[in-house]
Amino acid sequence: MYCGIVGYTGLNYQSAPILLKGLQKLEYRGYDSAGIFVPDVADNMDQLVKEKGRVSELVDLVDRSDVSGTAGIAHTRWATHGVPSVENAHPQMSANERFYLVHNGVIENYLELKHKYLTDVPFVSDTDTEVAVQLVAKFVEDGLTTFEALQKMTSLLADNSAYGFLLMDDQEPDTMYVAKRKSPLLIGIGEDFNVVTSDALAMLDETHDFIELNDNEIGVIKPESVRLFNREGEEISREPFHVDIDASETDKGTYEYYMLKEIDEQPVAIRRMLDKYFGETGEILIGDQILNDIKAADRIYIVAAGTSYHSGLIGARMFESWSGIPTEVHVSSEFAYEQPLLSENPFFIFLSQSGETADSREVLQNVNRAGFKSLTMTNVEKSTLWREATYALPLMAGPEIAVASTKAYIAQVTLQAILAYALSDRIDLDLEQELSKIAVDIQAIVDDKAVFEKVANELLVPAHSAFYIGRGADADVSLEAALKLKEISYVQAEGFPAGELKHGTLALIEDGTPVIALMTQPKTAGLVRGNIAETQARGAEAYTITTKALAEPGDTGYVLPDVDPLLAPLLSVVPTQLLAYYTSLGRGLDVDHPRNLAKSVTVQ
Ligand code: M6R
Repeated sequence: MYCGIVGYTGLNYQSAPILLKGLQKLEYRGYDSAGIFVPDVADNMDQLVKEKGRVSELVDLVDRSDVSGTAGIAHTRWATHGVPSVENAHPQMSANERFYLVHNGVIENYLELKHKYLTDVPFVSDTDTEVAVQLVAKFVEDGLTTFEALQKMTSLLADNSAYGFLLMDDQEPDTMYVAKRKSPLLIGIGEDFNVVTSDALAMLDETHDFIELNDNEIGVIKPESVRLFNREGEEISREPFHVDIDASETDKGTYEYYMLKEIDEQPVAIRRMLDKYFGETGEILIGDQILNDIKAADRIYIVAAGTSYHSGLIGARMFESWSGIPTEVHVSSEFAYEQPLLSENPFFIFLSQSGETADSREVLQNVNRAGFKSLTMTNVEKSTLWREATYALPLMAGPEIAVASTKAYIAQVTLQAILAYALSDRIDLDLEQELSKIAVDIQAIVDDKAVFEKVANELLVPAHSAFYIGRGADADVSLEAALKLKEISYVQAEGFPAGELKHGTLALIEDGTPVIALMTQPKTAGLVRGNIAETQARGAEAYTITTKALAEPGDTGYVLPDVDPLLAPLLSVVPTQLLAYYTSLGRGLDVDHPRNLAKSVTVQ
């Protein structure tokens, strides 16, 4: 899954507080242990502090240990090889206590390397990372420099390995070595200091200027210099890019959880999109080249994972209905290894909040090898999927911290609507006006929090399982609604096309089973009503989320304003986000950090 890396080397400041603050900013990504290494030049002592559990516990431990020094590396670990424990936490240290390494990713052939090169070396952890740091130590003992040893170690890793490495050698206490393949790493540039991080958000208090490291490159970072080398060991140069995010956007403010803050930010996300993508006279500001390349394609393939995949299902409906371009939507982890027969001239759209999802990147690399054109829609500019696609468009949602994705979904649906509209000849819809109205309507829904808190507490908090049903675009939103509910409340939830109930799932309906029906599509609302009745006849507690035009007296449920049916998901998804949020809260769970999940999934 996803671990977090931060590193700092400077002339003037203590590194530990900066590194620990960085780790706190990375907490949202999910982790189960954390650690820090600081070389203390004054006392010629290495300080390695690790803790299983929360970063706050590591902070206490570091405070008690009087750690001092102006460089260091730190890590939040998500266990892959070996259980969460102090021994398995990073930094991992070489047996000669000279090298310290933090690592994101997975080394596929670590056991093979251990048996081939390290039979005499004592190991203290079960991690693949310890093998990597012991290899560096061994190659240095054999006569290589640290740089050469890192180069040699990375060259031995199986091609399907993923790594972001940040290494320190206690003989060079102001120097950090970085190397990466598949796992993101950025070098942040400062005055009299430089930083390393796997996520720019972690270091925005220090700098907004970053250089990205590409696959198979190595960097050597000192307080006043950054040197980059390609796979062949030749020095290369790369200009920094500026990250235009206000550090305060990553604060929770007065909210108890980021998720609620992010749900509340959805109207702003739509308005930012309107500012970015509509000109003063209503013209759409998406480059002609992108539009021409998509128009020239005979089929669009949307590729994504999780919530982003669900937003793609909605987008496909708009590309087909408005632009008349056949569109398929695929789960990236499936597409990567079971590629369907492609059309003659395909165009690929990658949807990803983080821009780092490994499954989607695998597909993008195949697409690039085949020479097809692609567009990434992502919330993180300069992310891997952003950089590697032919074109990229930003989602403008602002940092999304909660593991459960909310505002990125709204932004993805909005941006796909704008693109589909730009590709269409459809003139009977003023999209800009419609989206402005939707932003106002979402505001009204989020202002109704108390309604959803009550429904969640009565209907979902006590439930063992729950069902979301709908037809057409409502079936797509049902999938997202069920994912959100199960992800943060651990209620077994299923979302599916309402017509499928009687083909199997109806057997699960018992007295009191919650069935939430989405009914925003005039074409099929009558049929969904029939499906609700079928579940009620078997004892289900039905709740409807419908539009004003489709509501009927006697409905138990929430009524949304009327909206173009293809845009209805932008409204209907919001009550389902709030229901998930309050169910999680009502069950006393950590809403932002659901068990077993990480924000960004950078391994396959
Ligand atoms: O960053 P991405 O949009 O590529 O992430 C894809 C999924 O991992 C993500 O949407 C996941 O399903 C969310 N946690 C759902 O809330």
